[in-house]
Amino acid sequence: MFITFEGIGGCGKSTQSKKVVEYLRKIGHEVFHTREPGGSPGAEEIRRLILEGDGNRWSAETEILLFNAARRDHLERLVWPAQKSGKIVISDRFVDSTRVYQGVARADLRGLVDELHTLVINYEADLTLVIDIDVKTAMERMSLRSGEQDRFDEMGMKFQQDLRDGYLSLGKEFPERCIIVDGLGPQDEVFSRVKAVVMKRLGT
Ligand code: TYD
Repeated sequence: MFITFEGIGGCGKSTQSKKVVEYLRKIGHEVFHTREPGGSPGAEEIRRLILEGDGNRWSAETEILLFNAARRDHLERLVWPAQKSGKIVISDRFVDSTRVYQGVARADLRGLVDELHTLVINYEADLTLVIDIDVKTAMERMSLRSGEQDRFDEMGMKFQQDLRDGYLSLGKEFPERCIIVDGLGPQDEVFSRVKAVVMKRLGT
């Protein structure tokens, strides 16, 4: 089982994925928790290249190549081996981030994202939870996190709105895999929604 968490910056996906990992471990599952871009040492190096620096440091096309390089390394070295050893793998972000950030909001490049994905990755999550909140709330939360902003968090309100719309469209495009979860409200309330989706998919 490969479960991914997605959403715009400040949506709460990392908090929710952590809670799911803790819960699954508590009930006896072996879980490997990871994130993109990054996870493996090589991919963490690429992460720094992509996320730090000036907004225009890379074109959207170059970003797609870098994210795919990081993704391939992460899969080969960590995700696939963990799956082979029987673990549930949970990743904060995966290819849906590329579909939405580089394919919709940064540029209109969804075709290129999909073609490259098929060529060099060709692997999908079994279940994706998109934690959905409005852009205003997300931006307020982000502004409280000092020093954690990356290149994409600083691209403005319209960019964030395009991301949110992109994620909502993915929910329609992949209704079986991609479940939109309302991310507004207290963390525990959001977690009960998230938990219900995950446990239903695990068949328990
Ligand atoms: P992340 O550590 O996930 O931060 P947060 O989820 O808190 O925003 O940051 C990763 C950043 O990289 C985020 O702004 C989304 C972006 N990103 C892409 O643009 N494309 C991708 O394929 C991935 C995986 C991430």
